[in-house]
Amino acid sequence: MSRVAVFVSGNGSNLQAILDAAASPSYPAQVVLVVSNKAGVFALERAQKAGIPVQVIPHGDFPDRSSFEDTLIAAVEKAGADLIALAGFMRVLSPRFVERYPNRILNIHPALLPSFPGTHAIEQAWRYGAKVTGVTVHFVDKGTDTGPVVLQEAIAVSPKETLESLEKKVHSVEHRLYPEAIRLFAEGKIRVQGRKVEIL
Ligand code: GRF
Repeated sequence: MSRVAVFVSGNGSNLQAILDAAASPSYPAQVVLVVSNKAGVFALERAQKAGIPVQVIPHGDFPDRSSFEDTLIAAVEKAGADLIALAGFMRVLSPRFVERYPNRILNIHPALLPSFPGTHAIEQAWRYGAKVTGVTVHFVDKGTDTGPVVLQEAIAVSPKETLESLEKKVHSVEHRLYPEAIRLFAEGKIRVQGRKVEIL
């Protein structure tokens, strides 16, 4: 059984999808900790409702990034997590943090990387007039949204699509893909060689 720490900063709909999947007895991973860098966000309520331990670690309370991250590391270690899943976590992790957990940090991005990295990816793809966008689950490396791709799924964008309808489509794919990627990780079915990720 994999032990997953989920890092959040906001709504937590991806966290919810993971919690819902993990509620099934046949799911090979359990969420052992939810960490938020912001107090009062809805993701924390979702975690508490599911009976998952939460820890609020406000980045602004620390003099620098390394002391903030030391506290994140201590929380992850204490929970005995073997996987960190970033789910709308709005802080960039330093190389020191990332190197501590090689191919053990997943992130979900609401576009087909390397297109539209960074924030507001759904809106960027929509404004650009892309005919295809999608969802990427990737391992986190030292760059921003640059790590090896684990799963990707494309979504067609019609010229009449509204931003709202596209957001709905992207989120519904996210909520299926992220629990699937975590399941594959927990079952030991992800093999990484450099940038190439093989699903066994
Ligand atoms: C998702 O679209 C995810 O891809 C991006 O941030 C958003 C988080 O949404 N990284 P939620 O907090 O999971 O609802």
